[in-house]
Amino acid sequence: MANVIDGKAIAEKIKGEIAEEVARMVKEGMRAPHLAAILVGNDGASMTYVGHKEKACERVGLKSTVYRLERNTSQQQLLSLIREINDDDNIDGLIVQLPLPEGLDEQLVINTISADKDVDGFHPFNTGKMMLGLPSFLPATPYGIMTLLKESKIETRGKHCVIIGRSNIVGKPMANLLSAKGEGADCTVTLCHSRTPDLKHFTLDADIIIAALGHPKFLTADMVKPGAVIIDVGITRVEDKSKKSGFRLQGDVDYENVAPIASYITPVPGGVGPMTIVSLLKNTVAASKIRQARK
Ligand code: GUN
Repeated sequence: MANVIDGKAIAEKIKGEIAEEVARMVKEGMRAPHLAAILVGNDGASMTYVGHKEKACERVGLKSTVYRLERNTSQQQLLSLIREINDDDNIDGLIVQLPLPEGLDEQLVINTISADKDVDGFHPFNTGKMMLGLPSFLPATPYGIMTLLKESKIETRGKHCVIIGRSNIVGKPMANLLSAKGEGADCTVTLCHSRTPDLKHFTLDADIIIAALGHPKFLTADMVKPGAVIIDVGITRVEDKSKKSGFRLQGDVDYENVAPIASYITPVPGGVGPMTIVSLLKNTVAASKIRQARK
């Protein structure tokens, strides 16, 4: 039976460390780091995520401001708010919750966020720096997974890591980070996606599998080599009448059947999810230190 990686506990531990660091900053006369978030429309999942981010900020002593805009906000209105926040020296980080309602140009929105406030690490400048192995704001989910692997003392050097899913926010950056030189990386990476024929051929050879395609219970036991490390990024909402909300979160891994043959596995919920917020907090603290040191 696999070791279950307790992302919630690891995230709590790191949040405690961040809280101490923020308290130290304030004691030394700096202001508390300040994160701004823009939420457009009323998508249920996005509203929940932004709420979690607000709560996490409060928990570690970060200031947060959430701008809630109506669904029919125009591109121009959104861009001018971003520019206003870019120019505000009392704000260190800015995120725009994705996905945006139809009609808004996501890439243009991301490009408009000042790179030095882009604590989501989605701006092409930060994406490029990450690819070159230069210090940059790393995107939340890949950064969270790298931290989980490190905290769980999972050896990555020379291991074959198969990533399923080639999204800009998980699969592609994950492939970059794991194939980078250095401790906690040095993997041989295969990036698989919906057009990969015979996916099982790759997954059966994998020492580490990262499932990030958004297809509930996609990774089944027959696709997994015994002893593999399994990281589940899926968070699909599936109907569950036994829950108060009417749904539960379902991962991309058939957990019940994969866990008995894996060496390590992340649960859903409570695995990768809580770590993504930790990444955002870490990036915001880093952005704030850089900004406040400039004065
Ligand atoms: N939507 C899904 N993941 C993310 C994320 O990491 N940041 C933002 N802003 N939106 C998201």
